[in-house]
Amino acid sequence: MKLVRKAVFPVAGLGTRFLPATKAMPKEMLPVVDRPLIQHVVDEAREAGIEHFIFVTGRNKAVIEDHFDRQVELETTLLERQKQKALDLLRHDLPEPGTTSFTRQQEPLGLGHAVWCARELIGHEPFALLLPDVLVQHERGCLAQMIDAAREVDQRSNIVAVEEVPRERVDQYGVVGVGAAKGKVFSITSMVEKPTQGRAPSNLILTGRYILQPEILDLLARQDRGTGGEIQLTDAMIALARTQPFYGLKFDGRSFDCGSKIGFLAANVSYALARPDIAPGFRSEIKKILAELNGG
Ligand code: G1P
Repeated sequence: MKLVRKAVFPVAGLGTRFLPATKAMPKEMLPVVDRPLIQHVVDEAREAGIEHFIFVTGRNKAVIEDHFDRQVELETTLLERQKQKALDLLRHDLPEPGTTSFTRQQEPLGLGHAVWCARELIGHEPFALLLPDVLVQHERGCLAQMIDAAREVDQRSNIVAVEEVPRERVDQYGVVGVGAAKGKVFSITSMVEKPTQGRAPSNLILTGRYILQPEILDLLARQDRGTGGEIQLTDAMIALARTQPFYGLKFDGRSFDCGSKIGFLAANVSYALARPDIAPGFRSEIKKILAELNGG
């Protein structure tokens, strides 16, 4: 039996930090090298064995649905022009027919509300949640690492990916307090959404990857608005942690917060430098730019 079969991708956000690029295009379609952010995250879920991909979308997000469909005209043209490699790549990236579902978050009421909007599609089984703003670069994807960890500690547990950030940045994230450690896995003792530095239980933040038990959905249905006037997933997780085991995994790899411009640009540099077909040329371009900036 698989530990987690379904993954939820909340993609309803407005992307105001990337205007004007995101005026007519969802932020999840911004490319990191030549793949949209959402494709990178779906790839991570597929690598972890996910079989059903649930997207919580909003208005103006239809191209995400198109992206995960066949583009017959394009395929025909590629075939005629004998561009087999490009064609193979398109086919490889596409989830199996019938394994994607799309639902809408009708109002921007927060991450907790977005997850709750997927309740009928999730059903009564554990699920993964991946925030497409965050990319984790490592030879073994973050979600696959989490599933490995869950198998070792407790199959019926909740597990979240955590990482350290400098203290002055804790107010941008959900922050966890941790107890006893078993290798890279910690039991979680507290959680706070976007605390001030003084109220943060540690400098370990929620990275945007979760494996949650379905009882979170009942809690979300009753959850009051929290930080920022939004229905916060973190608040429902605090309630769930009172009745179920909850762990944090310090994953291997480097994360990029692609919701910020610097994080997004850094992801592009790092992913390009990891691509054998691009790295040599790109490296020499970067060297030239830096040399010119430094006066020759
Ligand atoms: C969300 C979560 C937060 C988490 C962050 C990771 O915040 O609410 O707990 O640390 O994602 O990127 P958002 O970035 O949507 O404000």
